Amino acid sequence: MSKAQAPCQGDTTAQNHAGQAADDTPKDPVIRVEEKDIPCPRRYSSILECLEDADVEVDYHCRDGFCGACRVTLCQGQVAYPQGEPLAFVGEGEILTCCSLPVTDITLELN
Ligand code: FES
Repeated sequence: MSKAQAPCQGDTTAQNHAGQAADDTPKDPVIRVEEKDIPCPRRYSSILECLEDADVEVDYHCRDGFCGACRVTLCQGQVAYPQGEPLAFVGEGEILTCCSLPVTDITLELN
């Protein structure tokens, strides 16, 4: 089922999306959600795992891209699906947190 994209709160246009720190060390992508900025170091295997460690409550069930329970709105930024495209339906402007990782700083809105 397609769901209309909810308007996102806040303006994140001033954030640095270059992905590089001044010393050329790749910086960790930042997940902005519920007015928190959460760094997502590359040790995490998914956005869901990172959000759980930051005590952000996200629905989930299968944790493997099948059920769609972890679907959230991606307001800004880009994500990748390292294990390949998930099987669950993903609408325009939505991502599955259980099987994606941020490529850039991202802003999420929990559904
Ligand atoms: S928890 Fe099932 S698709 Fe993410």
